[in-house]
Amino acid sequence: MSKYNISIKTSSLTKDFGSVHAVRDLDLEIPVGTRFGFLGPNGAGKTTTVRMLSGLLKPTSGQASVFGMNVLTQQDEIKALTGMLPETPGLYSKLSAVEFLEFIGALNEVDEQRLYRRIDSLLAILGLEERQENLLESYSSGMKQKVLIAATLLHDPKLVFLDEPTSRLDPSASILVKDLILALARETGTTFVLSTHQTALAEEVCDMIGLLIGGRLVATGSPQEIVESAGGNDLEEAYLNLVGGRIDSEKLLTWRS
Ligand SMILES: Nc1ncnc2c1ncn2[C@@H]1O[C@H](COP(=O)(O)OP(=O)(O)O)[C@@H](O)[C@H]1O
Ligand SMILES: [Mg+2]
Repeated sequence: MSKYNISIKTSSLTKDFGSVHAVRDLDLEIPVGTRFGFLGPNGAGKTTTVRMLSGLLKPTSGQASVFGMNVLTQQDEIKALTGMLPETPGLYSKLSAVEFLEFIGALNEVDEQRLYRRIDSLLAILGLEERQENLLESYSSGMKQKVLIAATLLHDPKLVFLDEPTSRLDPSASILVKDLILALARETGTTFVLSTHQTALAEEVCDMIGLLIGGRLVATGSPQEIVESAGGNDLEEAYLNLVGGRIDSEKLLTWRS
């Protein structure tokens, strides 16, 4: 495959925090247009990986490139083409949703006419129109998450990183976000790289999954391929086979004795 069909390539990408090996020797190629999901339990290294790929965190060793550009030396070029929804974002609570998105649009140099059209349509899609002039400090955590998703998409990035996009959303808001990802990928060819501990999100949205456990990529493939290789009726069963997670009930009760 020519390098122009590759959105992300890593080679032995590694991150240590002192004695903690957060990400170990990650080798990965993500084709353009893929809906890729890093799936894994808490502490698996998903956030660390996404932060390195989006240029927010310096690797300890190894290489990573985005559209052929080096994440260490070409951060500005990469930022112009990518959007990033962090796991624990900051948000300007004294601004309204519209003001916040205007600010994000200005930072990303979106031209004004386009900016207001996009703000209107994203807020409408996400069901925030009626509250759009309210200060963000009055929003619920799910509503804030929706505003942040709008902010991530505002400059029409070619590659979108979403770190746990639906973890704070109720089921109907989660479906909205899943549909938005699927529609954007279909209509615009946008590449998505998301991280999640939710097998349902990975199964419904991703056409390629990288299973991370203890900082290592232990399996990659379509949800179907992962189910076939790990066994089980669906991705959740396959995931539990690989990760473990079932505790026998006798053990579970020994703390009381
Ligand atoms: N800034 C940090 N300082 C020290 N350790 C960290 C830091 N960020 C992450 N870690 C550690 O790296 C490992 C992977 O964390 P993380 O990437 O957040 O996992 P995940 O997103 O899969 O839950 C964990 O053991 C975590 O405690
Ligand atoms: Mg995380």
